[in-house]
Amino acid sequence: MPIQTTAKIWHNGNLIPWEDATLHVMSHVIHYGSSVFEGIRCYGQPHGSAVFRLPEHMQRLLDSAKIYRMELPFTLEELCAGVVDVIEANGVTPCYIRPIALRGYGEIGVSPKGSPIEVYIANFPWGKYIAGHGGADVCISSWNRMAPNTLPSLAKAGANYMNSQLIHMEAEINGYQEGIALDVNGLVSEGSGENVFVVRNGVLYTPPLANSALSGITRDSVLTIARHLGMAVTEQALPRELLYIADEVFFTGTAAEVSPIRSIDRVVIGDGKPGEITRNIADEFFGIANGLKPDRFGWLTPVKVNAIEPVTA
Ligand SMILES: Cc1ncc(COP(=O)(O)O)c(C=O)c1O
Repeated sequence: MPIQTTAKIWHNGNLIPWEDATLHVMSHVIHYGSSVFEGIRCYGQPHGSAVFRLPEHMQRLLDSAKIYRMELPFTLEELCAGVVDVIEANGVTPCYIRPIALRGYGEIGVSPKGSPIEVYIANFPWGKYIAGHGGADVCISSWNRMAPNTLPSLAKAGANYMNSQLIHMEAEINGYQEGIALDVNGLVSEGSGENVFVVRNGVLYTPPLANSALSGITRDSVLTIARHLGMAVTEQALPRELLYIADEVFFTGTAAEVSPIRSIDRVVIGDGKPGEITRNIADEFFGIANGLKPDRFGWLTPVKVNAIEPVTA
């Protein structure tokens, strides 16, 4: 889907016109992938709008930057305020928010020291990432996730998404909506842009972060919701074949939200319909995000913009 533009982008503390948020082709990031970024959603509420888990996302941006020795000249509070400012300036909700910190125009060597750090925050409308209510048809990718001592998976770095692109393109070319990658030891890791959850015999499983998975904020939200609903939850290494014999499998992610999976490598999961546990977790997740259920975990940051679409769970 083409990007729908908005009026302003936050750049290093100032709001600038969307068209002016440009980079020189010789910027470090363009040659060496030197960026860290976030993806956040702002949901419509019955009375206004709210950003979902804003401080947690911006803390992850700071953590990603720290891993890559990028010293961002902004505090957590300033970054969170930047998100609220750009959403309120553009007046567009529901929306997706894309903060990015990158190494800009300075030197051409691999060493990033001489290239300035730039921080941008954009927001724009973005609907469902994984289409269809009945569940996605996905495959196990022939590409593995990065080995732990190569590109660190806890950093949400632009460079990681070259691997994600290989996973996603292979899946699409072969007629699937998404691919699930294994780690270098053959254990389930994650989708190209989502964490994976499995339900079997009433227990909820997800791979631990050590299996080269991103520490998804939605993953954490689902673990919290599941515990709150009294479900048995375990983070443990999962062999590929457990996916085929699972009762339910679903993706989580800011873009993907909670998305049921209908088949993996054409093996039908359960009865091929979104399962009860997936539905209960999704109801609670969307209920909180859309302000239709109590914000019992303190996940919402209000913004002063009225949603342009009706609020539904
Ligand atoms: C590779 C990868 N894994 C997992 C996720 C899910 O993370 P989150 O729930 O924080 O969006 C994402 C999305 O950001 C991702 O790109």
